[in-house]
Amino acid sequence: MNHFDYIDGVLHAESVPLPRIADEVGTPVYVYSAATLRRHYTVFVDAFRKAGVEPNVCFAVKANSNLAVIALLGSLGAGADVVSEGELRRALAAGIPPERIVFSGVGKTEGELRFALETGIHEINVESESEIRLLSKVADELGRDAEIAIRVNPDVDAKTHEKISTGRKENKFGIDIDKAEDIYALAASLPRITPVSVALHIGSQLTDLEPYRLAFRRMADLVERLRANGHPIRRVDLGGGLGIPYDAETPPLPDAYAQMAVEEVKHLNCEVMLEPGRMIVGNAGILLSRALVVKQGDAKRFLILDSAMNDLIRPALYNGHHGLRPVVEPAADAPYAPVDVVGPICESGDTFAKDRSLPPIEEGDLVAFSSAGAYGAVMASTYNSRLLVPEVLVDGDHYAVIRARQTYEEMLGLDSIPSWIGTEHG
Ligand code: LLP
Repeated sequence: MNHFDYIDGVLHAESVPLPRIADEVGTPVYVYSAATLRRHYTVFVDAFRKAGVEPNVCFAVKANSNLAVIALLGSLGAGADVVSEGELRRALAAGIPPERIVFSGVGKTEGELRFALETGIHEINVESESEIRLLSKVADELGRDAEIAIRVNPDVDAKTHEKISTGRKENKFGIDIDKAEDIYALAASLPRITPVSVALHIGSQLTDLEPYRLAFRRMADLVERLRANGHPIRRVDLGGGLGIPYDAETPPLPDAYAQMAVEEVKHLNCEVMLEPGRMIVGNAGILLSRALVVKQGDAKRFLILDSAMNDLIRPALYNGHHGLRPVVEPAADAPYAPVDVVGPICESGDTFAKDRSLPPIEEGDLVAFSSAGAYGAVMASTYNSRLLVPEVLVDGDHYAVIRARQTYEEMLGLDSIPSWIGTEHG
């Protein structure tokens, strides 16, 4: 459920009409609903509580790393799953206590490991033998002990888009589960390192529980073997990945997911960590845009928006589907016709949707892409020297700009021209 609905024929975010935000902030702009964020987080946590486990939910900051979003989830009790020093700094700046932060990622620098250890975060999830050795070296230099999780690769097909599938042998992530016992033994033998946890994350936008079940079962078997080998395993980190409905897919409900997960791991009596991203923020956000041009080509009709692939890259990168609604509710008998929805960027990849059946949309009309709260603003760029898109958080009948639109001065100010290049002709 989300809070973007028509009220008196005009699309609202909670009680705020979207045309008001378009007038006051301009377009394109991401708009998030605080009520949806609260609801999704609570539904997720409650699902685990109902299934009999108090979960440690670390929001995957990569999905939406705006400080206000992290802070709102933090105020509900969420921790943070981060994958870079930048994300770690964001989580800290948003007020997430270090002991609620887990650091994932397949390649961390020495500087990042040092910063994580100095900060005293809950857990570092390591993914390779080299990383374990490096962490041991850094921990030794700092004189700090590091309790770690090792991310294993359970070799399970998550049946999602290949670019966001992470749990198969041919993916770069984790340590092959059949080599895990050796790697835990190695880790335990290194100075300052104690492996206390097993982590996995098999992919994103999963719409089927079976790959999860298989992965969790393999993980639980591994935990038993590791304990038999003398390792004090007290935590399991089940990763994120639960899908959301973008189009016609029907992902499992949080209750079913939690029940299955608890069934597979409860007997281990471990702390259960989770790293949901998309499920919390995906349907809590829209991208509000304005139609610039409606163009009838020989073969096609094009709707050219003021947002582009640099603002929302999921369609171009993964063929991702995002619903599109006019902000003024179409009449019940409005004629629908196929349209290519595109941005103004100079490549044909800048396409949001092909042959999308839409009611009439005129130049100047506002439209909203749905399900844009996850992997939307965070993946935005300034390609074509377009300004980084702003973000707004609505709560009831008011809203706040939580990231201002970049200015041209800020954009140009990042570059510098070395003195040995003349800037004058001749
Ligand atoms: N934990 C780890 C270790 C991850 O790598 C990810 C996502 C998550 C948690 C959160 O997964 P979620 O619950 O959001 O599915 N840009 C892509 C998605 C990439 C996901 C990467 N890892 C997209 O737009 O679909």
